[in-house]
Amino acid sequence: MSQTGKDRIAILGATGYGGGELLRLALQDPAVEVVFATSRNRAGTPVGKVHRNLDGVTNLAFSDPTHDQLLAECDFIFGALPHGASAEVLAPLVDAGKRVIDLSGDFRLKDPAEYKEWYGREHPRPDLLKSAVYGCPEANRAAIAGAQLVASPGCFATCINIALLPAAAEGLLSGRPGIVALTASSGAGAAVRETTHHPIRAESARAYKVLKHQHVPECVQLVRQAGSPAVEGMDFTPVSIPITRGILTIATAKLARKLSQGELNDLYELYYNREPFIKVLLDREPECQSVAATNYAEVRPRLTHSGELHAISTLDNLVKGGAGQGYQCYRIMSANQQDEAAPPLGWLGTWP
Ligand SMILES: NC(=O)c1ccc[n+]([C@@H]2O[C@H](COP(=O)([O-])OP(=O)(O)OC[C@H]3O[C@@H](n4cnc5c(N)ncnc54)[C@H](OP(=O)(O)O)[C@@H]3O)[C@@H](O)[C@H]2O)c1
Repeated sequence: MSQTGKDRIAILGATGYGGGELLRLALQDPAVEVVFATSRNRAGTPVGKVHRNLDGVTNLAFSDPTHDQLLAECDFIFGALPHGASAEVLAPLVDAGKRVIDLSGDFRLKDPAEYKEWYGREHPRPDLLKSAVYGCPEANRAAIAGAQLVASPGCFATCINIALLPAAAEGLLSGRPGIVALTASSGAGAAVRETTHHPIRAESARAYKVLKHQHVPECVQLVRQAGSPAVEGMDFTPVSIPITRGILTIATAKLARKLSQGELNDLYELYYNREPFIKVLLDREPECQSVAATNYAEVRPRLTHSGELHAISTLDNLVKGGAGQGYQCYRIMSANQQDEAAPPLGWLGTWP
């Protein structure tokens, strides 16, 4: 902790979209001092030159600190790096005892063989997977509070988890739930790619990684842990659509017993009763714009005509689906933070 009593933090990969959102949140938090916003290529550049929403808000410049500087000058370290690079950079910091929140997929799966299958590479530090805590506050708040290494869930995964968790915790899920999720362009990160290029994306919708997206195994792992061990997998189709922020998920699943709509509503309302960021909607549909730029997520549970679960959920992929959720986990971990849902996480977004 700094002499001012603030938590000193570093954000690794701070030039990216996730890093920019972490900066937006941390720079508004009176309990936090951002010591390092790291970049390999932009060290010395003012933060506001890259994240123009922060121009004039901070004098901070990107930097490229050494391992020893990170150890000596920070209480918490956020990783906003691509998977693969993330584990390589963060593992030595975890070894040295730092508390780390990783936005990448590197520490989410418990089984290194599954990591190899879905991420296409050997895990560089499988020894850390067991103690890493999956940073889903709605399922793992107590473990997050005491964790040294938190693996913040993926953006799609968070939206799917929120749609399924109450039913999973009740032991109602089995087999292979079917998921379709529509997603925004910022989910692909700041680097320019053909599939995120405006003329190709702006007036189209395109399915990709059909039935093989890497977020599937972390959702399966979570719903099994939550109380539905008979879930075998998920048939997941991601679809890119021309919006900048947001995910809308439609999840359908067979239920182990017959429920009335009222019982399903009660199940979701009770499960999320004390969750500061989850809104269970019973009288309107979830939509991306009502949660844009916020840490809130919306979910509407329904029964299909044949009595299966049909849940629609939305969130902002960069906030509740990424940096905001990582920041929520940090708030849960830090003794210096009084209220998980305090501003700026608990601030309202914009409409429209
Ligand atoms: N975008 C989302 O909606 C979202 C949501 C949840 C989780 N995530 C995860 O969060 C992480 C960051 O995502 P993002 O969208 O912010 O990505 P991004 O915009 O591509 O930014 C990643 C940053 O990491 C740095 N970097 C890139 N390669 C690196 C390497 N090999 N070693 C060290 N630094 C490297 C780069 O900064 P410099 O070149 O300046 O060093 C880059 O700006 C990813 O693992 C992603 O899967 C993203």
